[in-house]
Amino acid sequence: MKPRIAIARGRILNDVVRLLQTQGLDTSALTASGRSLMRPLGYGIEAIIVRSSDVPIYVRRGACVLGITGYDTLCETSAPFYELLDLGIARCRMSIAGPKNLDFVTDPTRHWRVATKYPRITAAAFEQRGRYYEIVPLSGAMETAPETGIADCIVDLVDTGKTLKAHDLMVYEDILDVSSRLIANPSGYFRERARVQPLLTALAKAVAA
Ligand code: PRP
Repeated sequence: MKPRIAIARGRILNDVVRLLQTQGLDTSALTASGRSLMRPLGYGIEAIIVRSSDVPIYVRRGACVLGITGYDTLCETSAPFYELLDLGIARCRMSIAGPKNLDFVTDPTRHWRVATKYPRITAAAFEQRGRYYEIVPLSGAMETAPETGIADCIVDLVDTGKTLKAHDLMVYEDILDVSSRLIANPSGYFRERARVQPLLTALAKAVAA
């Protein structure tokens, strides 16, 4: 059986494809239309295209020796993994954001209801800053939470800032720089190292270029 890599679908996959293309790899099987989520990547590796938060699960359980997902997702998992490479792709930031009429910076007494799908990152950020908080767990579309009154502020990824702007929200503080990372299952990596090395070398070269 070929060694497998779990890759987060969407922007991360698109950026991985671009990196591999810079090394002359034919990525047509990876990007071909069709519903199959298991595809040959090249270098003798099979790719599984999954949700970003599922990448650490495939790697932890040994179904995939390698994985590529965002640093935000990795900060939320307790799964053990080796981080092999910062791929420098799908860059964005994780921020605390909220309505312009609330003051996060100079009002330390307020109890914040925080909508997020990142409870670990949020808890660490609010505890480091000594703020009172309560997490309102959501799985997406966090920007609607302050407007609808289910939370005071949000912790979410910000890229262009357009979604915040559309909901009349502002960044209070940036708390994490995010990019995609190549991770490995520790024992799987030990076993499969020789077979995955050509892909690792290509990715390292692409990042350095
Ligand atoms: C992400 C994130 C923000 C948005 C930020 O959502 O959660 O909502 O992108 O991007 P911007 O700063 O360029 O506007 P995504 O579209 O990935 O969907 P999600 O809500 O399901 O996470």
